[in-house]
Amino acid sequence: MDTQVSQELCSRKLPDLLTFTDGTAVKERKDWSKRRKEIEQLLQREFCGTYPDFPLTVSGEVVREDNSGFGGKALIQTIMLHVKSSYSYLTFPFQLCLPKRRADAPVFFYFSFTPVIADGLGEEILDNGFGIVNLYYQDVTSDKDDEFASGAGRFYSRNSFDSWGKLAMWAWGMQRIMDYLFKECENGSVKLKSLDLTKSAVMGHSRLGKAALICGTMDERFSLVVSNDSGGGGAALFRKKTGEGIQDLAKHGSRIWFCENFFKNHATPEELPFDQHFLLALTAPRHLYVCSATEDDWADPLSEYLACAAATPAYEILGCKGLITDGKFASPEVPYHEGSIGYHLRTGTHHLGRYDWQQIMEYRRKHNV
Ligand code: GCU
Repeated sequence: MDTQVSQELCSRKLPDLLTFTDGTAVKERKDWSKRRKEIEQLLQREFCGTYPDFPLTVSGEVVREDNSGFGGKALIQTIMLHVKSSYSYLTFPFQLCLPKRRADAPVFFYFSFTPVIADGLGEEILDNGFGIVNLYYQDVTSDKDDEFASGAGRFYSRNSFDSWGKLAMWAWGMQRIMDYLFKECENGSVKLKSLDLTKSAVMGHSRLGKAALICGTMDERFSLVVSNDSGGGGAALFRKKTGEGIQDLAKHGSRIWFCENFFKNHATPEELPFDQHFLLALTAPRHLYVCSATEDDWADPLSEYLACAAATPAYEILGCKGLITDGKFASPEVPYHEGSIGYHLRTGTHHLGRYDWQQIMEYRRKHNV
């Protein structure tokens, strides 16, 4: 039956998620891992850029510890992460908040615009029973055109076609934190007993929502991937998108976030060999949660919502539900929490607010992720 959503998706003429590049169909569950790999490589080559794939060692050093964080509710550590390859190294800090009153707390890996998590926000998340990793994104590499030399840039000299952009660098930084915490847990760290890393959500707002998507979709250790108001280059479909488009992202400021192929090869969205539902679909069968805001015209909430619906066939071929809707466009404050893709539309402007956090935490509790 034609619904409002299916009609709109049809009019956007999206590339087919379930057709291999050679034109053959992805018919059954076992075909998906091959298609997933193909999509991941396509997105790295044409969108966010390729990651370094040489061996790295990761270690951490606790440089500050506060046992009375948030009024005594949490142990807060500042950890310097040392990442080394055979010819280069990088050190950057992150904050780890461990709830004291809970063992096995699910974790938020939060891409943050600030080095220290805000008091009110941190306490609210802890009170809801979660642990927090707070990564100030510019500690991994700056958000400026520095010729990709700062921070993570020293691992990989960038070419002008398929090398990583800043979003992929930030994503890579969070993945290295995950490397470290996993290793610590395996080594039986007593302090990390308060965390359950099998329930790890990576999350960010706006440009950091874009980074969270790249990080979590491509790294299967994250059980939940969350983007808030991530818009163009994030959760929103490019085809027929309103607000920010490829040509806007190509301008100074945001161009550095992507690889150069993204702009060189595709002047219009119709020329893209993918659309953002490809990125979202990499999460399947894990959980994905997308948040939009009614007045966030630059991001385009409808295109974010539709991308969730368009990613759903990847979940279905794996035998689970993606976004479950009544086939209509989303209404404000009516969250979709039933499927493995969650979505809500908040009334208001571009912002990560209390309502967004509350819904995401509720979704995590409901699905135990
Ligand atoms: C700009 C940019 C967006 C981005 C946002 C942000 O508005 O055009 O793509 O999401 O900044 O990160 O704040």
